[in-house]
Amino acid sequence: GGAAPKQARKYDYVVVEDYGSSILGRLSDLFRKAIKEAFPSLDVALLMAETSNPTFGDYQCNSAMPIAAKLKATGVSKRPGDVAKEIFAKIPSNTEFLEKVEVMPAGFINIFLKKDYIKKQIWSIAKKGLELPKISKRRVLVDFSSPNIAKEMHVGHLRSTIIGDSICRLLEAVGFDVLRVNHIGDWGTQFGMLIAHLYDRYPDFETKLPEISDLQAFYKESKKRFDEDEVFKKRAYECVVKLQSYEPNFVKAWETICDVSKKYNQYVYDRLDIKIEDFGESFYQDKMLNLVDSIKKTHPGVLREDEGRQIMFPTGCEVPLTVVKSDGGFTYDTSDLAALNYRINQLKVDWAIYVVDAGQSLHLETVYAAGRDFGWYDESVKRVEHVAFGLVLGEDRKKFKTRSGETVRLLDLLDEGVKRAEKSLQEKGRHEVMNKEELEAARDAVAYGCIKYADLSHTRTQDYVFSFDRMLDDRGNTAVYLLYAYARIRSIVRTSGVSEAELSDYLNKTSVLPLDHPAEMNLAKQILKLSDCVLQVLDSLMLHPLCDFVYQLATQFHDFYNECYVIDKRGDKTEIHFHRLALCDVTANTMATCFKILGIREVSKM
Ligand code: ARG
Repeated sequence: GGAAPKQARKYDYVVVEDYGSSILGRLSDLFRKAIKEAFPSLDVALLMAETSNPTFGDYQCNSAMPIAAKLKATGVSKRPGDVAKEIFAKIPSNTEFLEKVEVMPAGFINIFLKKDYIKKQIWSIAKKGLELPKISKRRVLVDFSSPNIAKEMHVGHLRSTIIGDSICRLLEAVGFDVLRVNHIGDWGTQFGMLIAHLYDRYPDFETKLPEISDLQAFYKESKKRFDEDEVFKKRAYECVVKLQSYEPNFVKAWETICDVSKKYNQYVYDRLDIKIEDFGESFYQDKMLNLVDSIKKTHPGVLREDEGRQIMFPTGCEVPLTVVKSDGGFTYDTSDLAALNYRINQLKVDWAIYVVDAGQSLHLETVYAAGRDFGWYDESVKRVEHVAFGLVLGEDRKKFKTRSGETVRLLDLLDEGVKRAEKSLQEKGRHEVMNKEELEAARDAVAYGCIKYADLSHTRTQDYVFSFDRMLDDRGNTAVYLLYAYARIRSIVRTSGVSEAELSDYLNKTSVLPLDHPAEMNLAKQILKLSDCVLQVLDSLMLHPLCDFVYQLATQFHDFYNECYVIDKRGDKTEIHFHRLALCDVTANTMATCFKILGIREVSKM
């Protein structure tokens, strides 16, 4: 099949109202204005970047090159270096945050920040807390996790759960109105065989909730009968029809099966601190009926007859959607059409995000194309997108399986993580310095944090190799490393003997933190990049830059702590550097903010 047309991505509806402590945001405003003044008739995207080499400043504006190219296309020949000079001329010389701006002959504009500005910003964060950017409130729906009833949740759903939850947390942190939706597969033909099998295996299910401990096995048994036994198969079909016409006994049987499955899923969600609301495929049954009716009226001819099925080819799509099956039933396509319609026209969402494996891209893009054909939404006003992710591979780089070749049960996987985390804490002798509750809290934070962080720190769209050994390595870019770093910073402040009141007294008496050591300055600059990073992640919905940010922050803290005394003990004289304690606090709070977005539990003792 051919690929469905990809929609152009539009970002304008992430409208930033307040940049928080974002420096890049502020700089961008300044340079956008300067470019507009210098070249009023040109429409070029602004190019701003952090520099990696401090001799070229803290940030760079690289717009002069594309502007020169654009000018050339209109017949004006101007060297990038001269374009850069004209932009430079429009930059006000008296801003509170620019130390110096210099133009390179090739057209790069190097931007140096005022140290006083940074000192003041960090003081302000220490005093008032960290401020993330704020956006204009809009309604976003995130469709994530979405396992199928009876077939147990597997690692693919785990990825969707982890990534989807983190995206929700990010959106909530900047002020979106977020709907967390579980589009569970709780409808469709497989319920016929499950219900028929339930009647045989648990005839008294109506009065006594069966203990189906292994739903996967139950599913396999019924599938086997379905495939091998014609009589059973016929009964299974009858069960589907009765369920879809809501015959009470069959609804009860269906609910029983769903309850067992949901109980299991809830167990996984509780452990991972996931909040999500069910709007399964069954929710759309009557909506699918209405939808098909109304399509036939409003868009006659769009549904085509094909071997008894009714299909449609949305604009630009080569693979059709099956809207009605030959037996009159609906499909995964139909429920997704009904869901899209409901989300846009009933729930009135401005932005819909589907966190689903990359393998379903064609299906989703085709559904979105149909939605646009029906006039449900205009891409320039609403954003509907598939946030795709790659496969989970085993350490052999093949599909993730147990040793015996079975699909890995999620609960087993989480248990294994907990066991390994506990062992690694023991090896470090933590059980000697922490009490039972503290140890358990640390163990769980490590186990679940590691699983989440390993997923989020990899480029979302790529396949990733699941390895407990790697994710529990406390020297690498892992949650354990970060959690240790975090606990250590908290303990520096805790054991300093300086009370919160004393520290806030100190902060009240000043208006800048004297960050004169280069290691202090580096750490401070990194802290101020969080807001920029958040804006970037908001744009790409890739979480790994946030992981990189917090990892770098921890590393820079490490450097700072190696070079600067927070508490200076010389003989019997002890000097406490209050501004450094404040810097520790700000660093820990910044890390905690990242943990919150990444869904990692923080522990202040480890
Ligand atoms: N239940 C589906 C699966 O397990 C995922 C559903 C994703 N969401 C959607 N709206 N199609 O593959």
